[in-house]
Amino acid sequence: MDRLRIGLIGWGTVGSAFGELVREGPLPVELAIVAVRDRSRTDLPRGVAIGAPEDALEADIVVELAGGLDGPLAWARATLDRGTPYVTANKALLATHGGELAELAERRVAALLASASVGGGTPMIETVTHMAAAGQIVRLRGLLNATTTFILSAMGAGNDYESALAEAQAAGYAEADPSFDVEGRDAAQKLAILASVAWRRWRPEADVETTGITQTTVEPGRVVRLVADGDQQHLRVAPAVLDERDPLAVVVGVESMLEIVSRDGSTVRISGPGAGGRATAGAVYADVARLVAGERPILFGGRIG
Ligand SMILES: NC(=O)c1ccc[n+]([C@@H]2O[C@H](COP(=O)([O-])OP(=O)(O)OC[C@H]3O[C@@H](n4cnc5c(N)ncnc54)[C@H](OP(=O)(O)O)[C@@H]3O)[C@@H](O)[C@H]2O)c1
Repeated sequence: MDRLRIGLIGWGTVGSAFGELVREGPLPVELAIVAVRDRSRTDLPRGVAIGAPEDALEADIVVELAGGLDGPLAWARATLDRGTPYVTANKALLATHGGELAELAERRVAALLASASVGGGTPMIETVTHMAAAGQIVRLRGLLNATTTFILSAMGAGNDYESALAEAQAAGYAEADPSFDVEGRDAAQKLAILASVAWRRWRPEADVETTGITQTTVEPGRVVRLVADGDQQHLRVAPAVLDERDPLAVVVGVESMLEIVSRDGSTVRISGPGAGGRATAGAVYADVARLVAGERPILFGGRIG
């Protein structure tokens, strides 16, 4: 079997970990080209062409691990328009333009996959997709953002917001500009994507009523977390005080957790690493495995309302 050629855009935390998996993993795939902005970087892989994103779109499969919105939207449109599979971890792209891209993918019979966009290495989209088949999901509830979990845990231990944030930044859990996480947008985009899959209608981030944690206070000993919660009508991300017996209350560190509640009252609960290069790259690699197997899945496909 000929090896499928991958055009990879982005050689950062996730991109470089994915590149390693392509080299070491069992699938008949190879990196044909890697695209970055700064082509003079000394940490780029050897023996692989380095180019611009547009060059990567010529490959058999395009994998976008760059982030951002304008570039990825143009690359995704061009890739899907020519019928080529597009794989990404870009939650912002899907929570902003996912409906349009899924429609384009359907028209062009091209695959659109983004397992790594929610839950990092924890198969949240896959589990929701699986359970959505029977149309029985009534509620999604979870902790989808590690930065706020870390900060709110530190506040529960007695720190104020500013020192908890500084601790999170020192530990590598928060960016220098933490606004996307602490204002709740990261969790809101992830909830929008999960809800789109659960209820078969694409929902943008704008549909999620979002309150971040910048004004939150935590009484010592209390468990407060940024909870993503939604049903078919209403999607919400907001800080909430959790009972200590609540399964979400035990989540710590980089872990994410999702509860999927069915009409009969049963709950499926999954948790695991919500971020990190290697774990996230594993989810991207699993998407590529489906393409190698000949599947042509479309995230949100066949259900755009
Ligand atoms: N990190 C995680 O744990 C995680 C988890 C889940 C999802 N994600 C998602 O995965 C994606 C990548 O995240 P990351 O953490 O790996 O980011 P990162 O470390 O900042 O790496 C981004 C890479 O993309 C390249 N890039 C950015 N804009 C580009 C452009 N316009 N043209 C060409 N190359 C460009 C950068 O190249 P230069 O270095 O040359 O600028 C860099 O190599 C994002 O969508 C993120 O939301 C990340």
